[in-house]
Amino acid sequence: MVKKLLVLGIESSCDETGVALVECEAGSGSEQVPSLLAHALFSQIEMHQAFGGVVPELASRDHIRRVIPLAKEVLAAADRPRSDIDVVAFTRGPGLAGALLVGAGVACALGAALGKPVLGVHHLEGHLLSPFLSEDPPKFPFVALLVSGGHTQLMRVDGVGRYVLLGESIDDAAGEAFDKSAKLMGLAYPGGPLLARMAEAGNPKAYALPRPLLHSGNLDFSFAGLKTAVLVQSQKMVVSQGTDTFDALPRSLQCDLAASVQAAIVEVLVKKSMAALKETGLTRLVVAGGVGANRQLRAQLNEACSKRNVRVHYPELHLCTDNGAMIALAAGMRLQSGHQQASANYSFDVKPRWPLDTL
Ligand code: KG4
Ligand code: ZN
Repeated sequence: MVKKLLVLGIESSCDETGVALVECEAGSGSEQVPSLLAHALFSQIEMHQAFGGVVPELASRDHIRRVIPLAKEVLAAADRPRSDIDVVAFTRGPGLAGALLVGAGVACALGAALGKPVLGVHHLEGHLLSPFLSEDPPKFPFVALLVSGGHTQLMRVDGVGRYVLLGESIDDAAGEAFDKSAKLMGLAYPGGPLLARMAEAGNPKAYALPRPLLHSGNLDFSFAGLKTAVLVQSQKMVVSQGTDTFDALPRSLQCDLAASVQAAIVEVLVKKSMAALKETGLTRLVVAGGVGANRQLRAQLNEACSKRNVRVHYPELHLCTDNGAMIALAAGMRLQSGHQQASANYSFDVKPRWPLDTL
């Protein structure tokens, strides 16, 4: 009989503390997705808003406060005692070093106290596999578009741990482009979702903003130039309207700029994703990471994919941004595939920089 493993997963790479419990079948090679029993999340966004971005030291200190209560919460929600935990998984990287160390330290202390092994998980692998928890899970192989606050990558995914990088951003990530543009427009951190909301009421063709590397012939991205274009455009608008600040512009003009920014980012992401599908000959696309929650991105990907008979999969909206469920899931899928064993060596390290294709 296949042994069931209860995996506790801890995410603490940036400004969200997430903990989750999944159950998987160790080394079974089963294609059944590990089941998510419970997950809990605490977002520090409000704390960092006062500073206009994530303050790493404050993030680490807050993870320390949250992680044990969240672990207790998921154990209670799943009605399992902590002695039932078979493996403790944690985000080993990439991310903020101090924040990662909190999750790794707690995971290893818990593992040592329970006499159970630990497993370090790649944060982006968590994002990439998170659509497996949706109602319409993908099947391997597929092209993955990873669009988070720190990364924009296209990967060819042939199975758990089988990742080939097809292209990536050479400067800012898509989420960063949303957030930096939003900041220039006076929106609070993280501005991506706020800018997206304003964009719904705007005209995406109002301002012609650059689409860098759109015709580069490769699958790389560049978003750094966009924020300069947004700065120049917003200054022009302030001068022509005779207002002192961007905030004082008529709301419709602000929404038009938001819609134009979103259109520029979305067009590049959609066109490069289609090029990646063409290049690989694959007919499945998986979108993951915080920007994957963007409605316009989803609408345009859906349209482009349906024209090409490509199936497209997304994580559930609440699992697009950082969470513990994706970390517990990635650990569960690795253990299940036989790709990796958990280790009882508790002398942990973290990897603030860690390319996914070196896994
Ligand atoms: O994946 P994630 O939670 O964090 C990282 O691992 O980086 O992604 C966060 C990013 C932020 O840049 C945030 O502004 C962006 O995802 N984001 C959005 C939306 N929701 C989150 N960007 C555009 N539209 C959204 N609806
Ligand atoms: Zn993330």
